[in-house]
Amino acid sequence: MLAGKKILLIIGGGVAAYKSLLLIRDLQKQGAFVRCVLTPAGAEFVTPLSVGGLSGDRVYQELFDLTAEAEMGHIELSRSADLLVVAPTTADLMAKMANGLANDLASTLLLATDTPVMIAPSMNVRMWEHPATQKNLKTLKSRGVLTVGPDEGDMACGEYGYGRMAEPEVIADAIGDHFEFAASAETTLGTPQGLRGKRIVVTSGPTHEPIDPVRYIANRSSGKQGHAIAGALVAEGAEVILISGPTRLDAPSGCTLRAVETAEEMLSETLNALPADAVVCAAAVADYRVEAVAENKLKKDDENDARTLSLVENPDILKTISQLPNGRPELVIGFAAETEKVIDHASAKRARKGCDWIVANDVSTGTGTFGGDDNQVTLVRDAGNESWPKMSKDDVARRLATKISEALKP
Ligand SMILES: Cc1cc2nc3c(=O)[nH]c(=O)nc-3n(C[C@H](O)[C@H](O)[C@H](O)COP(=O)(O)O)c2cc1C
Repeated sequence: MLAGKKILLIIGGGVAAYKSLLLIRDLQKQGAFVRCVLTPAGAEFVTPLSVGGLSGDRVYQELFDLTAEAEMGHIELSRSADLLVVAPTTADLMAKMANGLANDLASTLLLATDTPVMIAPSMNVRMWEHPATQKNLKTLKSRGVLTVGPDEGDMACGEYGYGRMAEPEVIADAIGDHFEFAASAETTLGTPQGLRGKRIVVTSGPTHEPIDPVRYIANRSSGKQGHAIAGALVAEGAEVILISGPTRLDAPSGCTLRAVETAEEMLSETLNALPADAVVCAAAVADYRVEAVAENKLKKDDENDARTLSLVENPDILKTISQLPNGRPELVIGFAAETEKVIDHASAKRARKGCDWIVANDVSTGTGTFGGDDNQVTLVRDAGNESWPKMSKDDVARRLATKISEALKP
């Protein structure tokens, strides 16, 4: 996907700058043209000589550079690329990007461009977790900036946590994925049907946990994302069994619908639908159900009134499928709807449940994810985290279907 692509690599002033030298090599090996911009702080970590030697081109460092302006103006520099990649992206560069600062070459290029931008953040865990950085991240993602990493691990400063820059090969993969997705969105040739012969189970929607014959406990899930995934998998040629809680949606044509109400029913239908090559657990399953469902409608003046509900834990569908001793599907994907520390919680959930991938989405107030048509997700998996820009739930579904198709390739 990278052959002939023009990438402008902006190297910020972080300890991970040395990894960007490897990234230049990686991208070139795959046929990309790499032109580099080095911030003054970046030049404290890697020399212009190494960067220029590897890229085989001049290295752009100064905004007010008469020679560079005469050869190629800074606006043209930012627009002549197919993708701008900032690696490492310092906390400082994120702040400048989020706030529209343009007081040096890198920030000016990033503000002047209409080309897609990908950032690979790299910083100390406290800098990463600082509310200012997290707010900047949110702003950048909402504007469609692509992100790769950061990873969790030991840091150069001796601390441990999130903030390590993604490895060069992971960044190169994310760049390849970006171009692949852009190409597939443009293609008019139809979907590649890479899931022909595969059987995939998708759970979607909320569950309703009855209290009495007329009342239940539910949540705000609309089922839009899960249903869209079922549709995208059908379009890719898969045999799809959609196990859905109560929603207002029609099942996408071509899939087999099994309608359920409760978490227990959803688990039992999911197990019945196996064997499968993959299971995508997109349903928002209630964690708890009422211990003893009343046979008759509870009355206000009943002796055992409904003011106190005794709850018991529901079965964990994602965990059960992920940890099946026999017949575990090759790929088990869960969703994590979080309202804070989205990636941290999603990574912890992946480890706890034992699933292969988690699609993490931010459902905090104001994001409009629940019931809305758009979603901004991060794919959390062993190969590294991938944040996708905000896009329609249909596009998230198509992109996920492509990823599933790649993962299930023989
Ligand atoms: C030894 C050292 C290591 C640093 N590592 C990082 C880092 O990994 N990430 C980061 O955001 N800032 C780091 N900084 C701070 C940045 O270099 C500083 O914020 C600088 O202004 C960034 O400039 P730039 O964003 O234009 O590249 C480091 C500073 C020093 C002295």
